[in-house]
Amino acid sequence: MNDFKERIAAELIAVRDRSLAYTEAEDDLLVRQHSPLMSPLVWDLAHVGNYEELWVLRAAAGITPLRPEIDDIYDAFKTPRKDRPTLPFLRPSEARDYIGGVRGRVLDVLDAVDLEDPSPLRRDGFVFGLVIQHEHQHDETMLATLQLSRQPGMVRDGALPPGRPGGADEVHVPAGPFLMGTDTLPWAYDNERPAHRVDLPAYWIDRLPVGNAAYAAFIEDGGYHDPRWWTPEGWKWRQESGVFAPLFWVKDGGTWWRSRFGRTEPVPMDEPVQHVCWYEADAYARWAGKRLPTEAEWEKACGWDAATGRARKYPWGDQDPTPELANLGHRAARPAPLGAYPGGASPYGAEQMVGDVWEWTGTWFDGYPGFSAFPYREYSEVFFGRDYRVLRGGSWAADPAAVRTTFRNWDYPIRRQIFTGFRCARTAEQR
Ligand SMILES: [Fe+2]
Repeated sequence: MNDFKERIAAELIAVRDRSLAYTEAEDDLLVRQHSPLMSPLVWDLAHVGNYEELWVLRAAAGITPLRPEIDDIYDAFKTPRKDRPTLPFLRPSEARDYIGGVRGRVLDVLDAVDLEDPSPLRRDGFVFGLVIQHEHQHDETMLATLQLSRQPGMVRDGALPPGRPGGADEVHVPAGPFLMGTDTLPWAYDNERPAHRVDLPAYWIDRLPVGNAAYAAFIEDGGYHDPRWWTPEGWKWRQESGVFAPLFWVKDGGTWWRSRFGRTEPVPMDEPVQHVCWYEADAYARWAGKRLPTEAEWEKACGWDAATGRARKYPWGDQDPTPELANLGHRAARPAPLGAYPGGASPYGAEQMVGDVWEWTGTWFDGYPGFSAFPYREYSEVFFGRDYRVLRGGSWAADPAAVRTTFRNWDYPIRRQIFTGFRCARTAEQR
C-alpha cells in the first residue's frame, strides 16, 4: 500500500476503535432507547457498517450485497429515530460480526483500488473519506446518546490546556470579499462546494465562544422571562418547553450544577456554554446587544487569510490539528476553558473556532450558488430550506477528519442534546 492508502487504512481503524469503545457495554444498554431523540446505540453501530457496505462495497466496488434484507432497517430516511427501537435491528454480537465482515472487505477494496481513477467515488479516495467522516459523525451522536442516558463510567475524560482569562472581547473583520466553500479539498461534502466569492461589510465577532459565566448572567438578568430578547417562534418555544437554563443544568443552593456523562459537578464558569438551542443563542445575542454571525461571517473570521488571498483549512493554517491547537476528537469529554488555544487563532485573531462546541449561526441551511448533489440527494439537499440552522466549527466530540473551516453541520433550532454553543457578532459602525 502507498502512503495515502496507509493513511486511509489508519483512519478507518481509528474510527472503528472509537465506535467499538462507545459500544463496549451490556447488551441491555445498547438495545435500549435512552431518548426518543436518539437511536439505540447498537442501531448506530450497525448503521455505519451498512453505510460502508452500500457506498464502498456496492457503489464503488460493485460487490454483491452481503445482507440486503437489513438495508431498510438501517436506512435513516425510512425510520425516524423515535421508531427505531421497534425495528428488528441486529443484536450487539451480530452487529459487531456484520460490521467486521464489511470492514474486512473494505480493506481489500482499498488495497486494490486505483485512487487516481476518474470515477468521482474512487478519485482521491472520496468514498473512504465519506465513510470515515460518516462514522465519526455517528460516534459524536453516540456520545450525545450516552450523555442523555446519564449512565456513569461509560465515557472517558482527559486533560486539557488551561484557560487564559482576559484579552479582547471581539475581533474586527474589515469589509471585503473572501472565498467561501471549496473546490479543492478532496473529502469535502457536496454542501461545501462550489467555492464562491462573498463580499461582506465590516463586522466584529467575539474572539471566543460565549462562556458559562456570561450565559449565567443572562439567566440571572431574567433573560428567559423577557420576550424582548426572543423571536416570536423562540418565545413560543420558551413558553411551551418550560426551559430556563441550558440542558443538563440545575440550580441548587445558589450554585449552577451540571450533569455530564452521569456525574454531577458545578458548572465551570470558564468553559464555553454548551447544550443550548438556536433560540437560546439568538435570545442571548440580542440581550448582549449583538446578533449571531451569519454563516459567511463565521467562515471568513475562521479561515480567510487576506494577506495571501486564500482560505485556510483550519484557523491556524493547513496543518493537522494537534492537542495544542484545538480541542477535537474527544481528548476530554468537555469543552476546554476559554482562551486555551492561543496558537489556534485565526488570521483575524478569533480563537476556539474549531473544536470545543459547535457554533450556531444565523443562517438557514441551503445550497451554495451552483450546488450539485453528490453522491446522493439525501446527504444535504433534502435538508435545504427553512427548517435547519447551520452549525459550524465542530465540537470536542468531533474528529479532525470531519472538521474544517468549510465544514457545514445543521440541525433544528430547538435541538439541545448536541454539543453546541455559539459566539456573537455585530455589524461595524459605518464611518
Ligand atoms: Fe448515518
